[in-house]
Amino acid sequence: MGDGELFRGRAEVGAAGGGPPGARDGEAGAPVIELRDVCVRAPARAIVRNVSLCAPPNQVTALIGPSGAGKSTLLKVINRLTDLAPGLRVTGEVLFRGRDVRAPGVAADRLRTRIGMLFQQPIVFPKSVYQNVIFGVRHVGNVPRRRLPEVAERALREAAIWDEVKDRLHEPAARLSVGQQQRLCLARTLAGSPEVILMDEPTSALDPRSTQSVEELIVRLKARHAIVLVTHNVAQARRTADRLACLCVTDGVGELVEAGRCHDVLTNPQSPALRAYLRHAEG
Ligand SMILES: Nc1ncnc2c1ncn2[C@@H]1O[C@H](COP(=O)(O)OP(=O)(O)OP(=O)(O)O)[C@@H](O)[C@H]1O
Ligand SMILES: [Mg+2]
Repeated sequence: MGDGELFRGRAEVGAAGGGPPGARDGEAGAPVIELRDVCVRAPARAIVRNVSLCAPPNQVTALIGPSGAGKSTLLKVINRLTDLAPGLRVTGEVLFRGRDVRAPGVAADRLRTRIGMLFQQPIVFPKSVYQNVIFGVRHVGNVPRRRLPEVAERALREAAIWDEVKDRLHEPAARLSVGQQQRLCLARTLAGSPEVILMDEPTSALDPRSTQSVEELIVRLKARHAIVLVTHNVAQARRTADRLACLCVTDGVGELVEAGRCHDVLTNPQSPALRAYLRHAEG
């Protein structure tokens, strides 16, 4: 896959083939993201083992499981942030629209505009609100300079923060509240027109009101994006997710113990490890 191909429209990019495990129940389109037998090893030990998982288009796929099960690590495998962790070795296939994200010629920074990520704590740069929104697209250089203001406005509107910041675009982003900063980070991700948004516990630093607004956004955003959401909040998964995958730890290594439609998995969990996790998580 060449760089140019990372920027083709949806219709032009070949769909994944070969019967993805996560689409077994046949209700979803060809997956946007597919992991096949993914293992991640640190020098001294394995972190996750044999994870196969799909994220279909226009759906929220939630990833739950105990601390240390490898949820964040798996998100970072998808957009190759694991490249930045020396010593981590990733094996198996990580496919974006059927093509390996580690294929020769795939530029990681371009990949990360197509597969955006939102972290637990909002990471704003010591720059203005506007400069924060356009930071990624400017760096990658795939949007003509004259179009940047329009791209910024679209992204801020899509992240439901335009009305709050339209008169503060040139103020330091650090002056925004944490909830606003998180939506600003979402706008920065959306400015790159990603097909996939990875979210790692995006509401865990937020108050209930900001949490609710981010959850509403998640549900709205799936109309145009595939979303993979890591959460410790099972109620949040219930409210937002279409599909659910649960990682648990066996012999110190994270493994996928169950995946399927969110409602089905939560109402009728099959594996003892998931049942134990839900008992604990839901109190
Ligand atoms: N670069 C690394 N080198 C060595 N070990 C790592 C590295 N990154 C993660 N780990 C280890 O991998 C395991 C899984 O970490 P990860 O952050 O993916 O878990 P998690 O499921 O997201 O947990 P939490 O719910 O607490 O966020 C942990 O034991 C962590 O210490
Ligand atoms: Mg984590």
